[in-house]
Amino acid sequence: MLEEILTRTGVGTMIERQQSHHVDYAQPEDLDEIERLHQESQRYTTVYGTPLVKPLDRGALERLLPHTLVLSHRDILIGKLHATELPEAPQTQLISGFVIGENHQDSQHGQLLVTETLGRLRERGYSAAAAITASDRAKRLFQRSGGTAATRGVWQMQRLSQSRQRYHPAERDSVELYEFQL
Ligand SMILES: CC(C)(COP(=O)(O)OP(=O)(O)OC[C@H]1O[C@@H](n2cnc3c(N)ncnc32)[C@H](O)[C@@H]1OP(=O)(O)O)[C@@H](O)C(=O)NCCC(=O)NCCS
Repeated sequence: MLEEILTRTGVGTMIERQQSHHVDYAQPEDLDEIERLHQESQRYTTVYGTPLVKPLDRGALERLLPHTLVLSHRDILIGKLHATELPEAPQTQLISGFVIGENHQDSQHGQLLVTETLGRLRERGYSAAAAITASDRAKRLFQRSGGTAATRGVWQMQRLSQSRQRYHPAERDSVELYEFQL
């Protein structure tokens, strides 16, 4: 911070008068951008061609709107995820549909969105969150954000085996469920 302020070259960090990144629940007018991001994410697949983000059509994304959190940068939507109820674990929310726009990856936007989401869920009184993924990048990100891979638990193992169904049998073991204590 001092180097940024007191030297001419700085450290490559931009200090702004107002916070330009913002995480909030989605608005109805965000649907087009959410759909675009979701479609874009379908290009990211496992070696067997399974999309890392479960395919959802516009209708499903619209129904998920009240449970969708979006990351915006200067009013441009650059990331989204869904945080939904888990009927079998009422104190826990399930994070899914996690996407950061292609041009915005590798700048800790994903971590920012997850961290802010966990904060919102904590504020709303939830005691835990969970996320299921086969993506190594997402796994590392979840670990950096305090998540641990669940290896036991009744609903955890049920959810995992449900989620594994859409993957090729040879890659099912790479699907993991991460838990975050809030
Ligand atoms: C997975 C995904 C959400 C991650 O989002 P992201 O914004 O790129 O994530 P981050 O920037 O926080 O971290 C990405 C990488 O950048 C690195 N990074 C971030 N900031 C950095 C910095 N200042 N210097 C060096 N490395 C940095 C992180 O260490 C991380 O490296 P890793 O992937 O090798 O572990 C994004 O890649 C994505 O949308 N992928 C397609 C869809 C998908 O797979 N979704 C997950 C399904 S659960």
